[in-house]
Amino acid sequence: MIPTAHIESKNKEDIAKTVLMPGDPLRAKFIADTFLEDVKQFNSVRNVLGYTGTYKGRRISVMASGMGMPSIGIYSYELYKFYDVENIIRIGSCGGYTPDVKLYDVILAKDVWSESSYAKVQGGYESEVIEGTKALNESLVKHAKELGIPMHIERIHSSDVFYRENFDEYKEIYEKHGCVAVEMEAFALFHNAKVLGKNAACLLTVSDNLATKEVTSSEERQNAFTNMMKIALEMAE
Ligand code: HPA
Repeated sequence: MIPTAHIESKNKEDIAKTVLMPGDPLRAKFIADTFLEDVKQFNSVRNVLGYTGTYKGRRISVMASGMGMPSIGIYSYELYKFYDVENIIRIGSCGGYTPDVKLYDVILAKDVWSESSYAKVQGGYESEVIEGTKALNESLVKHAKELGIPMHIERIHSSDVFYRENFDEYKEIYEKHGCVAVEMEAFALFHNAKVLGKNAACLLTVSDNLATKEVTSSEERQNAFTNMMKIALEMAE
């Protein structure tokens, strides 16, 4: 059933088996422009840009997810189910919950805790924790080591809310659930992979820290995020 409601490509072969998903469409374009060769754009519906190309001669796609679980829920579902994508690696930013994760540090989400109803509503999944795919995580750990890029491997929090009335709630989420950082997409991505028998992983770069109140500027972010991008790009096949 392609094209889908949100992806205009008429040919499954336009999209590689492994897709990197930043939240921001312009970051998807940046990755295609900076790192990929023989690039072909396969999506521009709603400006959610998607590209396929080669990295070191191996094929890979990159497409934006938009922000939040409903958005990544739609795009990852369509890629897995209708375009036969096997692996999706989210590459995003996160807010640190503890001073142990410093600005620009890279975090691999071992698993994700969320109070979101996404997984329950989508497929009756009752637990608040979902793991990333072990095989993908092992490959990402290996690539990070080879590149000499240090990486935290930790539980993260997927939140439906960026602006909470009670700012200090993060302290309890850190202490009770062991989440070292917050983002807004991984729980839905990991759930979709689980119900569709596919693979998912999530790499994050710390862009701000709720505990120390440090923040990064948007230009700083673009450069600092290349470490995470290089690790993920090694997943090209
Ligand atoms: N909250 C949620 N998502 C985020 C944050 C945050 O503080 N920083 C980067 N992504």
